[in-house]
Amino acid sequence: MAELAEPINTGTKNAKLLAWIDEMVTLAEPDSVYWCDGSKDEYDRLSALMVEAGTLLPLNPEKRPGCFLARSDPNDVARVENRTFICSRDEADAGPTNNWIDPDEMRETMRGLYTGCMRGRRMYVVPFSMGPLGSHIAHIGVQLTDSPYVAMSMRVMTRMGQAALDVLGDEGEFVPCMHSVGAPLEPGQADVPWPCNDTKYIIQFPEERSIWSYGSGYGGNALLGKKCFSLRIASVMGREEGWLAEHMLILGLESPRGEKTYVAAAFPSACGKTNLAMLIPPEGYEGWTVSTVGDDIAWIKPGDDGRLYAINPEAGYFGVVPGTSMKTNPNAMKMMERDTIFTNVALTDDGDVWWEGKDGATPDHLIDWKGNDWTPDSDVLAAHPNARFTCATSQCPSADPAWDDPNGVPISAFVFGGRLSNTFPLVYEARDWEHGVYMAATMGSEATAAAVDQAAIRRDPMAMLPFCGYNMADYWQHWLTIGSKLANPPKIFRVNWFRKDDAGNFIWPGFGENMRVLEWVVDRVNGHGHAEETPIGMMPSYEDLTWTGLDFSPASFSEIMTVDPLAAMQEADAQKTLFDDFGDRLPAELESQRQDQKARLT
Ligand code: GTP
Ligand code: SPV
Ligand code: MN
Repeated sequence: MAELAEPINTGTKNAKLLAWIDEMVTLAEPDSVYWCDGSKDEYDRLSALMVEAGTLLPLNPEKRPGCFLARSDPNDVARVENRTFICSRDEADAGPTNNWIDPDEMRETMRGLYTGCMRGRRMYVVPFSMGPLGSHIAHIGVQLTDSPYVAMSMRVMTRMGQAALDVLGDEGEFVPCMHSVGAPLEPGQADVPWPCNDTKYIIQFPEERSIWSYGSGYGGNALLGKKCFSLRIASVMGREEGWLAEHMLILGLESPRGEKTYVAAAFPSACGKTNLAMLIPPEGYEGWTVSTVGDDIAWIKPGDDGRLYAINPEAGYFGVVPGTSMKTNPNAMKMMERDTIFTNVALTDDGDVWWEGKDGATPDHLIDWKGNDWTPDSDVLAAHPNARFTCATSQCPSADPAWDDPNGVPISAFVFGGRLSNTFPLVYEARDWEHGVYMAATMGSEATAAAVDQAAIRRDPMAMLPFCGYNMADYWQHWLTIGSKLANPPKIFRVNWFRKDDAGNFIWPGFGENMRVLEWVVDRVNGHGHAEETPIGMMPSYEDLTWTGLDFSPASFSEIMTVDPLAAMQEADAQKTLFDDFGDRLPAELESQRQDQKARLT
């Protein structure tokens, strides 16, 4: 059995950290405690341990050097929103869009579950920094976990190990993140490749800024630096301290004139953030460069110059694999060629990976994500639709030179987009900041690509529905307040790549062609783009976009830009249901924006 050396505490005297670890060790009763140093050597030893345990399968080193495949338990494949709770003292502070349980009650439940939960296992102490080490925008967390897969993934996804402890110092503050897969081992009991528990809890305590997670080893449930810390807890910190934690990609656009513009864009989960963040400009855009700062989360702070500055708090990507190809995302394809952990994709007979939507012919035989034989005649998917790749940001061919800059990059525009088959146009611009906040707050997205009726729209304000750590109405107010204080607030846009024709096909080609929309956004921000005023906002005409290299007719453009006034009125009426949920916590500006919208449509 490959062994990890046993570095006990490598030197921190942080009393709060040591006391908390003692308390959790007493509760969870792990066999041993291992402090992660974050080295490559440690990563290699962790992977060797997991290969022996059957959790990881090394891929063919000729085809995918440094890559592994993990197959999760079939009941542990995605975030569990209905098991996610914001345990504020007052239920109203969690708000109507979050699950809530009294924090004392929840602590008791969790203590019960955590009692002896690490028996027969090792506890990994995983210190990490969200954001560049020592950046004034960054924050430290420490995760305790009994999952080596999580410890290994955290080295990719964050700045993990001794360097984070050094930044923490003896007096520093950190977000304690307790995690267990909830699968203790009796003496002699054999382990399974992917231990987890049918009972799952993803708990945020916003007042004490702590996270308790139980029962899952997957993604946002288990990599606690990501959604739990960088969005739910950080949104609470941001509100108290005057900054924003958002479910946004960050990209840079450099024009042939050398003008550099940074844009942050919020889309709900699995709606194309990774694709947009790594976009390759199409034909007709020679001389333009698109570069990637982040694909999922942005921490955004006002600078002394009255602008907003954003960092990507993560150090890795945990991206959706199915649908990724040289056509949809060549940069992601290149990133995944080496040193990547794949989870829940299919395995080829020659030790490579495969997924639905990959380039080339479908192989005649595969092992599917559940470990079963698969052929093209099988009536199940070979890869799980939420199969993911875990890979370092530094491997991204389009990485922006400033992706690691502790000061962040200046944001000139916010873009919001859902998955909407009708009514919403390809792109439009807010009249001003308050109007933009209204546009973002009322954003919706279809639950499935097949759903076309308005009733199937799930409201997902700012793409933060599952991630806002406090009352969404207070969050909207926070957005209004931040904007009101900025000398130079970013312009706000809404986009929709997903409008469909009567036959159910996407009208807009999307992916790289989204560059045409981004160019107009950049033009507007830099003061040289043309727009028409319409009842819903400022919109480009056909002539305002570049069409070189794309055959897209004025008629098709009109099809995806036309807003049916009746449908728009129905939409504005439907927004009342959302607003009513918040009672008198709803900022008055948002209801008056809705009224103004209706008046303009009449
Ligand atoms: P999370 O990591 O879950 O937060 O999601 P994400 O927003 O990064 O999702 P991702 O980029 O992995 O979204 C992938 C999905 O969006 C796939 O179904 C793609 O086909 C679809 N998609 C991305 N860009 C476009 C586009 O321009 N047009 C269309 N039609 N689909 C797109
Ligand atoms: C999302 O669901 O928005 C993700 C994936 O980015 S996970 O990290 O699993 O939450
Ligand atoms: Mn996400």
